[in-house]
Amino acid sequence: MNRQLKQDYYLKNDRAQTFHSDVLKGLSADPKKLSSKYFYDTTGDRLFQQIMAMPEYYLTNCELEIFQNKTEELTRAISNINESFDLIEMGAGDAMKSSYLLKNLVDKGTDFTYMPIDISGNILNVLQQNLKKKLPDLEIFPLEGDYFDMLDKATGISKRKKVVLFLGGNIGNMEIEEARHFCSEVKRKLNTGDLFLVGFDLKKNPHTILAAYNDPAGITASFNLNLLTRINHELKADFKVDQFQHYQNYDPVSGACRSFLVSLCDQEVQVAGHSFHFKENELIDMEISQKFSEHDIKKLATDSGFHILMEVKDAKNWFVDSIWMV
Ligand code: AVI
Repeated sequence: MNRQLKQDYYLKNDRAQTFHSDVLKGLSADPKKLSSKYFYDTTGDRLFQQIMAMPEYYLTNCELEIFQNKTEELTRAISNINESFDLIEMGAGDAMKSSYLLKNLVDKGTDFTYMPIDISGNILNVLQQNLKKKLPDLEIFPLEGDYFDMLDKATGISKRKKVVLFLGGNIGNMEIEEARHFCSEVKRKLNTGDLFLVGFDLKKNPHTILAAYNDPAGITASFNLNLLTRINHELKADFKVDQFQHYQNYDPVSGACRSFLVSLCDQEVQVAGHSFHFKENELIDMEISQKFSEHDIKKLATDSGFHILMEVKDAKNWFVDSIWMV
């Protein structure tokens, strides 16, 4: 086996083992819990694409509008004339939103390297092909792997000012304490003057928020239920997926929008040789999509050692890209 193949093999094995132990631990907890970071297998990726195209799911368009229409503001906030830097994007995906910012920076002749980080090597290949066509002069250094391992690698390589992007409202998929820890870890890897640009979905009319996660077509339900199918395939389990129902809830006071799966009957499920009992109406806690107030964002920034440099919002004031400095 050559070095690259060996590395891929160990990486896959490592990820499979973490998935296995996380699922067993989550199903043994009270209340039962599964992590939404495991939603994204091939089917999950496809369902998430469908979610992003749903009329109710406003988040993608809000942030896209910011990157399309407020590119100048973002550019001025992150780069000074004649200053070179490295632009690191955590969870870059296909760089659909950031490509507007990248184009503006390239057009201005800015000296920077784009370092997209993603867990999927496949999506990084797509990103590279797209950007090579659109922006042939862009210097790209893709990093495949876990956010923090790759951020370590990027900060080890980069000797210049660093600007880290974390878009899409992904910060909302962490409990507040976890988000605080995550932002503090990012801060620990940066130097004074470096920047962190984070996308936050803002608190708004609760009906608007609930509708984005409780779509009548049931795509979000399938997105949640697909994790049970994934566990069946990858961990030799026997979840009867039609015996679970998606339930979504939004608490406008705390801003927590949570999804659960409800067991529709008393049932026993086998997962990787372990037996789990579900009472009728017992819940599995699946995902948090936290919504933020301006005060929540300020608190998160200061608690993790940053100060807010600038905020850029969409026209409806539903989403904000908040730019923080160390
Ligand atoms: C990826 N993340 C920001 C999405 C969200 O809005 O929390 C995931 C999602 N879950 C249900 N719909 C979309």
